Amino acid sequence: MDILGFIDVPGWVLTIIIMIITLYLYSLWYHSLWRQLGIPGPRPIPFLGILPRYKKGLGKTDLELVNTYGPVVGIYHGHLPVLLVSDPEMVKEIFIKEFSNFTNRPIPFKMDEDSASSVGTAYDNHWKFLRSTISPTFSSGKLKLMVPKIQRCCTNLVENIQRQSKQGEPVDMKEVCETFTMDVIASTAFGIDVNSQNESNNQFVKHAKDAALGEIFKPKFILIMMFPILKHLFTVQFLKKEAGDFFKSVVDSAIELRKKGQEVYNDFLQLMLNARHDDKQSDYFTMGDLKDFKNRGLNNIELKKNAVTFFVAGYDTTANTLSFACYCLATNQDVQRKCMEEIDNILHGRRPQVEDLSKSKYLDRFFNEVLRLYGAAVRIQRGGKQDIIVKGVYIPKDVDVSVPLYAIHRNPLFWPDPDKFDPDRFTEENKAKRPEYAFIPFGVGPRICIGMRLALMEMKMALMIMLQSFTFSPCSKTEIPIELDPGQIIRAKNGIPLKINKR
Ligand code: HEM
Repeated sequence: MDILGFIDVPGWVLTIIIMIITLYLYSLWYHSLWRQLGIPGPRPIPFLGILPRYKKGLGKTDLELVNTYGPVVGIYHGHLPVLLVSDPEMVKEIFIKEFSNFTNRPIPFKMDEDSASSVGTAYDNHWKFLRSTISPTFSSGKLKLMVPKIQRCCTNLVENIQRQSKQGEPVDMKEVCETFTMDVIASTAFGIDVNSQNESNNQFVKHAKDAALGEIFKPKFILIMMFPILKHLFTVQFLKKEAGDFFKSVVDSAIELRKKGQEVYNDFLQLMLNARHDDKQSDYFTMGDLKDFKNRGLNNIELKKNAVTFFVAGYDTTANTLSFACYCLATNQDVQRKCMEEIDNILHGRRPQVEDLSKSKYLDRFFNEVLRLYGAAVRIQRGGKQDIIVKGVYIPKDVDVSVPLYAIHRNPLFWPDPDKFDPDRFTEENKAKRPEYAFIPFGVGPRICIGMRLALMEMKMALMIMLQSFTFSPCSKTEIPIELDPGQIIRAKNGIPLKINKR
C-alpha cells in the first residue's frame, strides 16, 4: 500500500500497525480511570498494569505503594482497576457502614455453580443464607464441645515434635503445624480421624496444599485481566479439580458413615446435614432457584462446597500463624519466658481448658502481635454494587476495593518501629492510642472470618501445651529475618526450622 505517495508498505504490515495502535489506545483508555478521578498511583504498564511489580511480593509492593502514594492508591491488575484503601476510617465505612453496597468480594470472572456456592465467594442473599446457616457451628457453646478433640490433636502434636527432635535435629514447625491444623479441622468439623501428624505424605495435607493453588494464576485469568470483557465467557475454578474431588469424596464417606452409626455429632458437617433440604434433592441448581432462601435448606452442592472451603480455609491460615508464633518465641526469648511463666501460673502442670484461654492475657497480646506481622491474609477485598462516595473519594461500582492488611499492620503511623516484635503494643493503654481498624487480621464487618474463634482457640491451646513440654530456639538453618512467600497468603518461603529444647 502506498502511503502519501512515497512509502510503499505491505497491507499486512499496515494491518498489524493499526492493530497495535488500537490495542495501545484501548489500554490507555482502560488505564485512565484513576487519573480522571484524581486518585494517585503508579503509572501502569500497557496491558499489564502493575502486575510486574508483584515479583517482589504482594505485601512488600503494597507497603511501597502506601508509603509512596498515601492511604488511597489507584492501581490496575492488567486492565482491572483496584483501589487500595489503607485509611482505617475509610475501611470502617466501606466494610461496616456501607456493607449493603459492599456485600461481596469482587470476583473478576464467571463462577460455575460449584465455585459460587462457597460462603467465601457467594453473593448477596445467597451469602446471607449460607453464612446464617453455617455460623452457629462456631458459637462458643459449640466450640466448647470440640475441646476434647482439639486436646487430642495437641497431644499428638507434642508427641510428633518430640519424636522428630529426638536426635537433637531441628524440626520444621511449618510442616508440623500443617499436619496439626489438618487434624483439628478434620476432627472438629467433620468427625474424621485423619492423623496426618503420624504420616508423611498424608493425602489430606497433599490435597489441601494443591487446593490452595487453584486456577487463578493460570493464563485464562491473566487474559481476563487484560481483556475484562472475557469474564462473561470463561469460568475459572478456585480449586484444583483433583483436590476438590478428593475432599468431596471424603465428605461423602463421612455422610455415609453417619447414616449407619449411632454416634451423636456436634460438628460442622452435622449442622449442615441438619440444615439440608432433603437427601434426594438434586445436585443441580441455577441462580434463579436460589431466590427464596427462607424455605429451603442447603443443597448438596452447597454442603460439599462449604465442607471443602473449611478444609482449605481452616488449615493453611491457622498452620502458618501457629508456626510463625513458634518462630517469634524462638527469636524473642524474653517473650517466650513471659508466655511460659503465665502458662505455668495458670495451669500448674494440668492440661488447658477453654476457660484458661481468657485468663492468659499475655498470650493473647503475644498472638495479636504474631497476627499483626504474620496474619495470613495480605489483602482483603470488597466490590461495590453502586457508585458511591466514601469520605470524599468517589468509588465506581464493580471496582475491586482492596485493603492491604500487610501494609496497614506495618504502617509506622500506627506501629512505631513496625518490624520490632513487641506484644506490649496490645496493652489496653497502647491499643487506645491507635485507630480501631488499624489491626484487622481476620477482616472486618459481617464478612469477617467465620473461623476466627476456632483458629484462636486451637492455636492458643497448642502453644500452651507445647510450652508445657519444651521451648523453641533458633538453629543454624533458621532465617532471621524470615523470608516470606511473595503470594497472597503470608507463608514462610523456606519453612521454619527450629531447635526444640526439653523443659
Ligand atoms: C489464623 C487463622 C485465620 C486467619 C488469619 C484468617 C483470616 C481470614 C480473613 C482475613 C478473612 C477475610 C475477611 C474479610 O474479608 O473481611 C477470612 C475469611 C474467611 N475465613 Fe478465615 N482465617 C483464619 C482461620 C480460618 C478457619 C479456621 C476457618 C474455618 C474453619 C476459616 C474460614 C473462613 C471463611 C469461610 C471465610 C469467608 C467468610 C465470609 O465470606 O463470610 N478461617 N479469614
